[in-house]
Amino acid sequence: MTTDNTSMESVSHEDRLFPPTAAFVKDAHISGVEAYKNLYTKSIEDPEAFWSEAADELHWFKKWDSVLDRSDAPFYKWFDGSRTNLSYNCLDRHIEEGRGDKTAIHWEGEPGDSRDLSYKQLHLEVCRLSNVLKARGVSKGDRIAIYLPMVPELAIAVLACARIGAVHSVIFAGFSADSIRDRVLDSETRMVITSDGGYRRGKMLKLKNIVDEGVDGCACVKDVIVVKRGEDHPVDCTMQEGRDHWYHELVSQVGDECTAEEMEAEDLLFLLYTSGTTGKPKGIMHTTAGYQVYSYLTSKYVFDLKGDDVYWCTADVGWITGHTYIVYGILQNGVSQVMYEGAPNHPNEGRFWEIIEKYKVSIFYTAPTAIRAFMKWGDKWLNNKDLSSLRLLGTVGEAINPEAWIWYHKMIGGERCPIVDTWWQTETGGHMLTPLPGATATKPGCATVPFFGIKPAILSDDGSDVEAGILAIKEPWPGMLRGIYGDPQRYKDTYWCKWDGRYYFPGDGARVDADGYIWILGRVDDVVNVSGHRIGTAELESVFVEHKDVAESAVVGIPHEIKGQGLVAFVTVIDGRDYDDQLRKELVAMIDKSIGKFARPERVLFSSDLPKTRSGKIMRRLLRDIAEGKELGNVTTLADPSVVESLQKQYQQE
Ligand code: PRX
Repeated sequence: MTTDNTSMESVSHEDRLFPPTAAFVKDAHISGVEAYKNLYTKSIEDPEAFWSEAADELHWFKKWDSVLDRSDAPFYKWFDGSRTNLSYNCLDRHIEEGRGDKTAIHWEGEPGDSRDLSYKQLHLEVCRLSNVLKARGVSKGDRIAIYLPMVPELAIAVLACARIGAVHSVIFAGFSADSIRDRVLDSETRMVITSDGGYRRGKMLKLKNIVDEGVDGCACVKDVIVVKRGEDHPVDCTMQEGRDHWYHELVSQVGDECTAEEMEAEDLLFLLYTSGTTGKPKGIMHTTAGYQVYSYLTSKYVFDLKGDDVYWCTADVGWITGHTYIVYGILQNGVSQVMYEGAPNHPNEGRFWEIIEKYKVSIFYTAPTAIRAFMKWGDKWLNNKDLSSLRLLGTVGEAINPEAWIWYHKMIGGERCPIVDTWWQTETGGHMLTPLPGATATKPGCATVPFFGIKPAILSDDGSDVEAGILAIKEPWPGMLRGIYGDPQRYKDTYWCKWDGRYYFPGDGARVDADGYIWILGRVDDVVNVSGHRIGTAELESVFVEHKDVAESAVVGIPHEIKGQGLVAFVTVIDGRDYDDQLRKELVAMIDKSIGKFARPERVLFSSDLPKTRSGKIMRRLLRDIAEGKELGNVTTLADPSVVESLQKQYQQE
């Protein structure tokens, strides 16, 4: 791991301040900065009282014996002794409290088809699928992979698993067959729920065919349930006798009621695989009660959710943002939300603004990479679009550059909507650093202040407090990951070893400014953030070296205008082998096959050697300098300085 914080520059010296409007402050859940400070102090001084009050807003079959159990740190337990169910809190609770007829999901497909589901209807669909799962022998603790486009059945499948205590492992539908296989085998998946296809930019992606390839020969997979998305656009997919079943046929054969399973606090709720610094993605574990409370409370306060809001998060449920801020956190708050299947530029670049106008969206949560794409497409797509329903905007996935922030603020937010720039991770389960929209004056590009109960620090490698260094989190919080599936040691080593178990190590650099605001400076490890998606450079490297002509490779991240970061691969070939465009194409095709098209490098460069220290370690810092066209940093520790010079020359020529 390279915690090379000397090379980490403080990217922004933005000092413009945007306080929330008086009108927003007046009605906000957290109204004014004093209210934030008071509640924050309480949450830090007496976290148990703070979190139990939050939990009291939800339904429990049995309340907890203790709020936080630290006895087996870092395997913390939250709300131990309680029994609850996430699907109950997302659905049944609202029906019992008279919100059953309210729209839960306004779904819109890419071709323009749409479907509204009230909380009652969603409950019914979830109960039916739960009964199907039970009828097929799925029981508590079984792992179920979900590989679906953004259709209502994706949320339904997630909630059905939660309802019966099965563990969902959602695989983003852009991942390849090999990625499905890795995840299915790692978690010994019992069942896969997929669809014949899904729309993306006017094309039908044939998802079932990808699943067939991915699970071929995986004996653990007993059933594949297939949603029919291609009603008007038939997708040829072969149904394997005995293993494959049509979703619509199964749900028509079962009853409408299914009692929610009483889950223990630390029962596994889901696995979500994410990239780390090795070639193997890790199955991040989230459990029931703590994640329930954290997803609920962060949604309520950060999005300032109110009964009449129409919320829209443009992420895919295949990522943590969709888990927490489409499914669990949002539905627990009982508001209406939009769910959209397709691309932002289909049939044209105005699609998102049409959706906001059509559904009168009041809260809009998207990624900086999308905002930069909108800017590039031009303001004309906003002409004659009524965005006056919006009252709050949010971003997630990477630091937002101030220019994009200002555009978002002016062009989308009409200079009246606060922007919540939320810093968090798959591992944290929910927001960690974020403005509270009715309390925090924002600064463009800054994730600002900690959420309640979160105690951040900025440390040097040796653990002393510094102004710019490595972000650390001091205390456990309810939404935190509970482990890496099948590898408790890796959990400890990755997240808790850096400062002897005293802090959680997220892997990001940060600095604090004079107002105490925290600015995220990007990763300090070999993880690259491409369009808000985490990609471990080691994952690509291990794919490249599988090619018979490749000796070694090093992949680095470089700034990219739209994606935030792009990938550049340096590849050395085995002595005597030729390299040409054909090899380049083969290597890119290998990435498509092993990971997915979204992980394609921008450039693949061949070289005879890579810059290494005398002990043989590849100096990625120098490769980044080359790829960014910068002056080379210190080269004195290199075994052979001529390597880097020739690489630089070659890079400039190409
Ligand atoms: O580097 C940080 C960046 O995304 C990483 C987490 O990625 P992932 O687990 O895929 O979750 C993304 C969605 C929560 C972090 O370690 N990141 C995320 N949000 C921000 C961010 N960097 C700066 N500012 C943010 N708002």
